[in-house]
Amino acid sequence: MDPEGNLLLITIEGIDGSGKSTLLSALKGQLADLDPIFTREPGATWVGESVRRAIAEQIDPITEATLFVADHAAHLAKIIRPALASDRLVISDRYTDSRYAYQSVTLEGVIPDPLAWLKAMHNGWSIVPDKTFLLVIPIDDALLRLSEKNGREHFERREILEKVQNNYLEYARAEPSRFVIVDAKKDKDEMAAFVAQVIRFTLQSSRSHRRP
Ligand code: TYD
Repeated sequence: MDPEGNLLLITIEGIDGSGKSTLLSALKGQLADLDPIFTREPGATWVGESVRRAIAEQIDPITEATLFVADHAAHLAKIIRPALASDRLVISDRYTDSRYAYQSVTLEGVIPDPLAWLKAMHNGWSIVPDKTFLLVIPIDDALLRLSEKNGREHFERREILEKVQNNYLEYARAEPSRFVIVDAKKDKDEMAAFVAQVIRFTLQSSRSHRRP
């Protein structure tokens, strides 16, 4: 939540192949009347180009992790903070939980406590989302969807995706009021209608709380 009290920041999370892109394009239609700002990590600013390069070159995991954090800082400064300050609804395709879920895996064995390190990196300047939708899907289904795509990234392997999804589920259990778990095997229109409804409800309740 933004310290100034401006709302609403919604994030969409899930492993590669969980269907985030399909959900987001349906939400664009279903929430058009709210005129949300749709954004993403990595790559909402030019800093994302260095992240993509790091992923493609399979650079060392610490460089990669810190570039993802830099991309997040630029995203907040250039897009998210200005949007929230003007009272816009912001919907981000991936956000901080992606770092916690993926980089906890890529940094395993590299540093002693990856999650604590990642959290400390965000401490004091990042914004916690108001709601996070976590798309959950059996790993086999995600891999099947990914196999239709060319050129897999190093994250898109079974053993990585299994761990990443387990990490996400652990965070969702720890913060049940922020996370909404979405069954990503559901019909895509049904799923989008459900997510859109929860967003509208969250928006209404947050705005009524802010009324003087
Ligand atoms: P992206 O190309 O946006 O993939 P997708 O379409 O699946 O969202 O993201 C590239 C990869 O980067 C994706 O496998 C998830 C990973 N990632 C991290 O490892 N850490 C992060 O902080 C973020 C934002 C993404």
